[in-house]
Amino acid sequence: MKRWRRRYYDLFSHIYDRIIALHSRDKSSFLRYFLLEKTGVKDSAFLLDLCTGTGAVALAATRLISDKGLIVGVDFSEGMLRKAYKKGLSLKHPRLFWVLANVGELPFISQSFDIVTCSHAMYELDSATREATLKEIKRVLKPGGVFGMMEHCEPQNPLVRALYYLRLASMGSYENRAFAKDEKPFLEKYFSKVEKLLSPTGNSKLLLAYV
Ligand SMILES: C[S@@+](CC[C@H](N)C(=O)[O-])C[C@H]1O[C@@H](n2cnc3c(N)ncnc32)[C@H](O)[C@@H]1O
Repeated sequence: MKRWRRRYYDLFSHIYDRIIALHSRDKSSFLRYFLLEKTGVKDSAFLLDLCTGTGAVALAATRLISDKGLIVGVDFSEGMLRKAYKKGLSLKHPRLFWVLANVGELPFISQSFDIVTCSHAMYELDSATREATLKEIKRVLKPGGVFGMMEHCEPQNPLVRALYYLRLASMGSYENRAFAKDEKPFLEKYFSKVEKLLSPTGNSKLLLAYV
C-alpha cells in the first residue's frame, strides 16, 4: 500500500505546483507564513516540516530562520523532494535539509526540534500512520515545543466538496472523515493544550498543539 502511495505522489510531483497555482488563491504563500508566524518561530528555531511535498512551508521558513537555526523537510516521495531540493538551491540557506522518510517513523533523536509543522497533509494519512506520526511529533519536540498543523476546511463549492469527500473516502477509514471534521480530539490525546484558529482566507484551519 505505502509503495503504491509513494508512487502516486512521485507522479503527482510533476504537476503538484501547477495544480496548486491553478486552484489556490494563495499565490504568495500567505497561508504558509500565517502557519509559521502562529507557531511563534524565531530566527534560531529548529523546525521540522512533515509531508513537506515540494517544500512550500520549509522554503517559506528560510525567510524567518537564520543560519543559527535549522530547517528540515521530510517526505516519503523522492519525486516531491527532488522538486523541493531544486527550488531550495537558489535560496542558498546553509541549514536547509531534505530527508526521505515515512513520517510515522522519524529518523531523528528525541527532543530535537522547537517546531514541527504539517500543511494540508495529515488528513491524507491512514489512521495507523497518523497516530504513529502524532506520537513521533511529540517525541521529537523539545519541552515547550509546538506543533502547527494546517488543514482544509470543508469546501463550499459543491463540486469541490464532492471531490474532497471522494478523496477522503479513498483514504479508507471512517476515522479519516472524523479527523477531517474535527482534528482537535485526535491531537488532545498527545498534547497538553490544543488551539484551533481559522485562516484569514476562511478556507483553512490551523491547529496549534503544545507539548
Ligand atoms: C498534499 S501534499 C502536501 C504538501 C505540502 N505540505 C504543501 O502544503 O504543499 C501531501 C504530501 O504528503 C506526503 N506523504 C504522504 N504520506 C506520507 C508518509 N507516510 N510519510 C511521508 N510523507 C508522506 C506526500 O508524498 C505528499 O508530498
